Amino acid sequence: MSVKVVYGAILCLVFMWMMPLALAEKEFPISLTCTNCHPDRYNEWSRSMHALSVSDPIFEAAYLRAYQSDPQNRIFCLSCHSPTTRITNDFNLSKSVSIEGITCSFCHTVTAVEDNNFTFNPNNPMEGPYNDSKTNAHASNYSQLHTRSEFCAGCHQFSINGVPISETYSEWKASPEGTEGEQCQDCHMETKRGAVATNGSIRDKVYQHFWYGGHTGQFLANAFQINSSTQRTGNRVKVTLNITNKGVGHMIPSGLPSRKVVLVFNATDKQGREIFSDQKVYAKTIVDQYNNEVYDFWNAVAVAKDNRFKPGESRIEVFEFDVPNGTDEIDTQASLTYQLEAQIITTETEMVNVELASVSNRTILNAAPQPTPKAPAIGLIGSFIAIIAAILVIGRKKSQR
Ligand code: HEC
Ligand code: HEC
Ligand code: HEC
Ligand code: HEC
Ligand code: HEC
Repeated sequence: MSVKVVYGAILCLVFMWMMPLALAEKEFPISLTCTNCHPDRYNEWSRSMHALSVSDPIFEAAYLRAYQSDPQNRIFCLSCHSPTTRITNDFNLSKSVSIEGITCSFCHTVTAVEDNNFTFNPNNPMEGPYNDSKTNAHASNYSQLHTRSEFCAGCHQFSINGVPISETYSEWKASPEGTEGEQCQDCHMETKRGAVATNGSIRDKVYQHFWYGGHTGQFLANAFQINSSTQRTGNRVKVTLNITNKGVGHMIPSGLPSRKVVLVFNATDKQGREIFSDQKVYAKTIVDQYNNEVYDFWNAVAVAKDNRFKPGESRIEVFEFDVPNGTDEIDTQASLTYQLEAQIITTETEMVNVELASVSNRTILNAAPQPTPKAPAIGLIGSFIAIIAAILVIGRKKSQR
């Protein structure tokens, strides 16, 4: 009897001694440990939204609201915004690696993705795109998954209460680019010639880690083209805009419903006096149980409206208005702006406005009014290809509410 107790106590002690050893076996290395050998990837990543995914003020404010509405939300939010917490359970973000958000040692130890679940752990070798990569610094393994959109889908596609919140992956899958096999990485991780590691041999393609998107003006600037034409019948003017989303492998805007594209149209006379103005908003609108539009997507119960631009879509928008008698010339202006508006703290609003494409047109209107409205309209007076400025205005302003 007493012998059993002693054995039991010894076994217990042995287990207690082994447990922390097993747990402490390996931790996710922080990104700084990769810097010496992969300085370019480190510099790119550290400026990307992935590195800011928990420290971004827009996220922080939303996270606070989500936590206040239900403390369980933090496990959910962090599962993507600080994915190492899936294993470390560090939901208080006390470890440095947790604050790094979507960090190197998370992405590069992933071996499988299913829906929103990832298989990964700190003991895995570094998974990457090469099958001939060797170093003494760490074990390496070729991973086809890392070269494919399915890897990104684990976070860039999700629903809450059955309401699709982010559908970037399925939008891509249905797009011409998706059908042709152009992956997310091909557009968002532009390659260049260079060395993968300091003193490493030169490869034709290394993958840059900027992940440009809606937060990046230049990247957005090429996404749209606008053509316009103006017709006049009597004092009635009709401006037809043809807006095309080109070369983007998903809807614009994609991702969270807080992103909007706004078309502003106005017409002025020779003296610059306004004759007409109008605007249209393209967005996915989600609503709560009271049918009110919400940005806090965890409260959404339905998608009320979705008029975003599909990949490759050309859309016609027509503006019709009357000009005062005797008007012989009008200037029309149409501009598309990408808006990302979010609360950062309860009293402040962060706005990112990027002009995407614009077209302006001076039209000499025929002086003589047309007597027969049934006759075909005067015809194409002016046709214009959009001027897509190389770098458009990015206004980032903070305004007091
Ligand atoms: C002491 C230097 C060193 C350190 C530290 C280091 N690496 Fe590497 N790594 C290399 C070298 C060298 C290669 C091989 C380069 C090649 O194949 O051209 C490599 C290759 C890789 C690959 C490609 C693997 C493949 O098979 O495609 C990945 C991914 C990678 N490292 C990630 C990391 C990450 C993440 C860290 C930090 C946690 C890190 N490395 C730390 C030197 C290092
Ligand atoms: C572990 C989850 C996760 C994975 C995996 C992931 N992302 Fe992200 N991604 C995010 C989150 C979260 C953000 C937003 C961070 C923020 O703004 O707070 C983001 C932001 C982005 C942005 C920036 C959007 C903008 O508006 O500027 C792009 C582009 C992007 N990801 C592309 C990719 C691509 C391509 C892949 C696959 C190679 C990928 N992501 C893999 C979670 C992930
Ligand atoms: C969001 C996930 C993600 C994060 C975070 C990430 N990577 Fe990568 N990385 C990738 C993917 C995906 C590829 C392969 C792209 C392809 O082949 O299409 C890659 C490729 C690489 C490669 C091999 C090719 C090259 O361009 O050098 C290295 C090395 C690498 N990453 C290192 C790092 C380091 C170091 C960090 C952190 C500073 C990091 N990665 C952060 C997803 C990530
Ligand atoms: C053919 C190129 C291309 C492909 C393929 C592509 N993207 Fe994009 N992506 C863009 C461009 C251009 C933008 C900026 C325009 C915009 O706002 O949609 C963008 C924007 C984004 C944004 C910011 C949201 C937004 O609309 O502002 C995210 C997030 C993103 N992409 C993720 C992905 C993911 C994940 C995949 C793969 C499932 C992917 N992209 C495939 C070109 C591409
Ligand atoms: C399944 C993965 C996933 C989960 C879970 C998730 N997010 Fe995100 N989140 C993303 C991705 C991917 C992006 C960036 C691209 C986009 O707009 O879709 C993002 C972007 C954001 C942004 C916009 C940041 C910016 O700078 O524009 C906010 C705010 C945000 N998430 C808050 C939250 C909150 C709060 C929770 C928890 C209630 C949460 N997220 C849960 C994947 C996720």
